[in-house]
Amino acid sequence: MITFDEQTGIFHLHNKQVSYVLQLVRGRYLLHRYWGRAIREFRDARAFQPIDRSFSPQPAAYENERTFSLDVLPQEYPAYGHGDYRLPAYEVRLADGTTVTELFYDSYKIQKGKPELAGLPAAYADKHEAETLTIFLRDTADKLGVELHYTIFADLPIITRDVKLTNTGTAALELLNAASFSLDFPDHDFDRLMLYGGHAAERSLERRPLVRGIEEVSSRRGASSHQASPFLALARPEATEKQGEVYGFNLVWSGEFALRTEVEQFGTTRLIGGINPFEFRWYLAPGESFQTPEGWLCYSRKGLNGMSQAFHALIRQHLLRGRYQHALRPILVNNWEATYFDFDDEKLDQLAECAADLGIEMMVLDDGWFGHRNDDNSSLGDWQVNTDKLKKGLAGVAASVHKRGLKFGLWFEPEMVSVDSDLYRAHSDWVLQVRDYPSSFGRHQLVLDLSRQEVQDYIVRSVSDVLQSAPIDYVKWDFNRHITEGFSLALPPERQGETRTRFVLGLYHVLETLVQAFPDVLFESCSGGGGRFDAGMLYYMPQTWCSDDTDAVQRLKIQSGTSMIYPPITMGAHVSVTPNHQVGRVTPMQTRAFAAMLGCYGYELDITRMSDAEKAEVREHIALYKHLRPTLQFGTFYRLLTPFAGTANETAWQWVSEDGKQVVLMYFKTLAEPACPIRTLRLQGLEKNQVYRVTDYWPAKGLAHDTALAQHMPLVGRQFYGDELMYSGLTVEKTDADFGAWLWAFEQQ
Ligand code: GLA
Repeated sequence: MITFDEQTGIFHLHNKQVSYVLQLVRGRYLLHRYWGRAIREFRDARAFQPIDRSFSPQPAAYENERTFSLDVLPQEYPAYGHGDYRLPAYEVRLADGTTVTELFYDSYKIQKGKPELAGLPAAYADKHEAETLTIFLRDTADKLGVELHYTIFADLPIITRDVKLTNTGTAALELLNAASFSLDFPDHDFDRLMLYGGHAAERSLERRPLVRGIEEVSSRRGASSHQASPFLALARPEATEKQGEVYGFNLVWSGEFALRTEVEQFGTTRLIGGINPFEFRWYLAPGESFQTPEGWLCYSRKGLNGMSQAFHALIRQHLLRGRYQHALRPILVNNWEATYFDFDDEKLDQLAECAADLGIEMMVLDDGWFGHRNDDNSSLGDWQVNTDKLKKGLAGVAASVHKRGLKFGLWFEPEMVSVDSDLYRAHSDWVLQVRDYPSSFGRHQLVLDLSRQEVQDYIVRSVSDVLQSAPIDYVKWDFNRHITEGFSLALPPERQGETRTRFVLGLYHVLETLVQAFPDVLFESCSGGGGRFDAGMLYYMPQTWCSDDTDAVQRLKIQSGTSMIYPPITMGAHVSVTPNHQVGRVTPMQTRAFAAMLGCYGYELDITRMSDAEKAEVREHIALYKHLRPTLQFGTFYRLLTPFAGTANETAWQWVSEDGKQVVLMYFKTLAEPACPIRTLRLQGLEKNQVYRVTDYWPAKGLAHDTALAQHMPLVGRQFYGDELMYSGLTVEKTDADFGAWLWAFEQQ
C-alpha cells in the first residue's frame, strides 16, 4: 500500500480506490505531486514547468536557479520565511524572537497498522487494515524536528494525517501554529462546501465556487461549535450527490479549528486544516513535543454521497469503540421536552410505565435531578441527587424504570459550574478566567478549567460516584455554553495560550477514563444539541444529540447536513410534540416518526398525555422501527435528495442492509404544491438481477392521523427486479397535504 522509489524520490500511498503521491526533490524538499483516483504508478507526466517567476525568491542554495522557488512548488508541510508567501502549515517563535526555521527531509519509516495518538482521539486500524508512513523532517539549524504521519486504509478512499513537532534545540520555543495537514492542488476548479449553522439550526450545507484569496471555516468558541463543523469539501463543479470528484476533509478535534483555502496568483489551491492558529500558542521546552489532532482526507469519485459513505465506513469501523459500536441502539424516551425541570418520582414512574407499554426500551432523566436545580440558574457542579424531588434517590428511579424492563439513562453537564453551587463556593479558581476582568456568563454558568488535573479528577470522581450509586445504562453528556476569558489561573504566563487546547485534551482524558471504567454504559454527547458533533467526541461517545430543534422539517435539513460526514447511527433524533416547542410547527405524527427514524430513534414528549389513537400509532411506528432498525443503523446509506437542492422541498434517504437483503427508502415532501410533477425515486445500490419484494409501504398521511389522503396503490407483496427500481424507478403517490412522509421497505428474494 505504501512504496518508496529511491531513484525518483516518490512515495506512493495507494489502494484500489485512491493514490496519494509525495516526492522528495533535491534530497531535501517534500513536495505534493498527486492525490486522486488510484493510478498504477506516478511517472511525472504532469512534470513541473520551470518558470522564472518574478518576485518568487530562491532559497540560498539556489541563488542562480531563478526557476526554483518555494513560492511555486506544491508542498506537504510548508513554512513561511523562505519565499513561500502562501499560508504556512506551522509557525514557531524562537528564543531570539524570529520565526524562521527551515525543515528538510531527513528519513522515513513505513509500518503496518496505525499507531495510536497519545491523549487524542483518532481512527484505529490493525496491521492488516492499514499502513502508515512517517516522514522525519529536520530543521537545518537543529531547532525543530517534525514527523509527518500518513495512514492509508486497505479498502477506504481515505488518508489520515497528523503531525508531531519537537523542540530539538537548546532553547525554548513557542509554537504559534501547527496544522494537522496541508495540501496543494494544481488548480482551483472547485466548488467549496461547508456546513454552517447556529444553535438549533446546525449543519446546513453551503456550496459555492472556490474563490481567489483566503477563505476559512473555523471556530473560536472553545468547541467545534454549532456555527461551523470541522469539515470542508472541494467538489468539481460538475460533481453531484451521485457522481464526480469530491475531496472531503474532516478533523478529529472537538475544540477550536480552522480549515482554510488559499487560491493564489497562479491559480493553485492550498488547503490547510488543524487547530485554529488564532490565539493558539504552545510552549515547547527543549526536548518537548506537540502532537496535532488527526485530519481525514477523503477522495470520492462517486460524488458527495461517495464521500459520505467513505466517512461513514471509517467512523463505524475505525472510530467508534466499545460495546455499542456494533450493538443496536435502544429506542428511548427523554423527559426534557416532556417535563423540563418539573418532575418527581411519580411523574417519572408514569413516564416509565407508559414507555414500557408502548415498546420503548430506555428512559432518560434529563436536566434537573441534582443539587437544588429547578431552573438553569443553579447547581451545575453539585452532582448529588436532589432527594426533595426524587425521594428514593437515583437508585429508586432506576429501580422503577428497570422494573418495567427499560434501561435507565441520566443527563450530566460536567464541564460546567453554576455560581450558585457548592463546587463554585469551594473552588472559584477552578473556572476558566482572567485575573483582572469579570467572567462572562452563558446560560448563567461558567466553564470549568479542564486544563487542571484536579478539575479533571473532580469530574471523573463525581460522575463515577453517581454511576456507581445506581444502575445507570446511558449517559447524556452536555456542554451548554461556549468559552469566554479562556485562560487558566494555574498556568504560567508563557503557557496561557495553551489553555483552550489543554481544555480539550483534559476533556479527552476525562472521557477516556470514564468510558474505560464504565464499558457497558452507552454515552451520548450533546452541546445544546449538536454543538460538538465531531469525530473527536464520537471516539468516546458513539452517538450525539443532533440538535435542540426537534421539529421534523428542520431536522430534515440538520440531519441531511450531518449525514455528509456522520452516519445515521451517530445521530440522536426524537419525536416531539406539536405544536413544536422550537418553531411552533404542526406536523403529522408519521412525519415526525420517520424523520426521527433517520437517526437513533426516540421520543421526547409527554407520552402519558397522548390519546389512545396516538398511542396506537406510536406502537405501530415502534414495531416498524424495530423491524427496520438493523438496516437503518448498520446499512449502507444513500442520500437520494437533499433539502439543500432546488426548492429545498424534498428529502429522500435510502439504506441497503449489510447483507444486501433489506432495502429501506424514505421520502419527505415539505410543502404540497399545485401542478406538481410526479416524483420518481430511483433507488441505488441494489443487485440489478435480483428480485425485491415490497414488505412495507407507508404513504403520506395528513394531520388527521387516521385519514389516508390518496387511493393507495396496493404495493405490499409486489416484486420488482433491482434494475427496474434503480433505472426506471418508483413513483411517489401524490398527496395534497403539507409535511408528507413516505416509507417503503423491500426484501431481496
Ligand atoms: C441542552 C440539551 C437539551 C437538554 C437541555 C437541558 O440544551 O441539548 O437536550 O438536555 O440542555 O438543560
